[in-house]
Amino acid sequence: MKVTGIWVLSLSILVGAVSMGMAEDDALAPHVDPLTGALQVPSNYTDWPTLGTWTHTKLVEGEPVIHEYHVVYTQPETISHYRKHNRFPDGAVLVKELLNAETMAMTTGPAVGHATTIKGWFVLVRDTQGRFKESPLWGDGWAWSLFNADDPRKTVSKNYQNDCVGCHLPAKNLAPPHAVDADKWIYSFGYPVLRP
Ligand code: HEC
Repeated sequence: MKVTGIWVLSLSILVGAVSMGMAEDDALAPHVDPLTGALQVPSNYTDWPTLGTWTHTKLVEGEPVIHEYHVVYTQPETISHYRKHNRFPDGAVLVKELLNAETMAMTTGPAVGHATTIKGWFVLVRDTQGRFKESPLWGDGWAWSLFNADDPRKTVSKNYQNDCVGCHLPAKNLAPPHAVDADKWIYSFGYPVLRP
């Protein structure tokens, strides 16, 4: 009797804690683990609008060829919120899909690139609340994670300060003057769709 009572009590505490955690971070569900803050690539991100695309070329025998695209997706409400308030809302997800590419002659031009296979994803989740302070993947207003193509559920980056920040510092100097500090990490000049 007593044992059952304790069991029921601990179960209800556990259920309560989990549901509280979920409710608190509802904005981030289901791509953020409410207990650890671990991210996943949102399974529906290709249903979202694209924020913008970056094209990468390399020189092959002195000629530039397209060898990679970076396509950035976000929720539709992120775009409408940014246009109205000039900032990314709490819970905004930026998914940068890395695609391998090939260049070939087509009827539209002598060097036309097209995507071939997915290489991986970089994911950022805007955090205005300072969540998961102990996690080395959360800080400076965002959660930061890299995923390889073989597993969109497993972050392969370990520490955003070592793995991400250095390369995003130049964005700070290129950010629009209205941007709040955390948003200055984003290369937003590449996303004309954010302009009002
Ligand atoms: C080698 C430098 C480099 C590293 C390392 C890097 N980034 Fe970036 N990131 C960039 C650049 C430059 C862009 C925009 C242009 C592009 O993609 O080529 C960008 C764009 C992004 C975008 C699209 C939003 C934006 O800021 O424009 C996301 C999401 C992103 N990075 C996440 C991350 C995360 C998470 C990490 C660490 C795990 C990381 N990046 C590490 C250089 C880097």
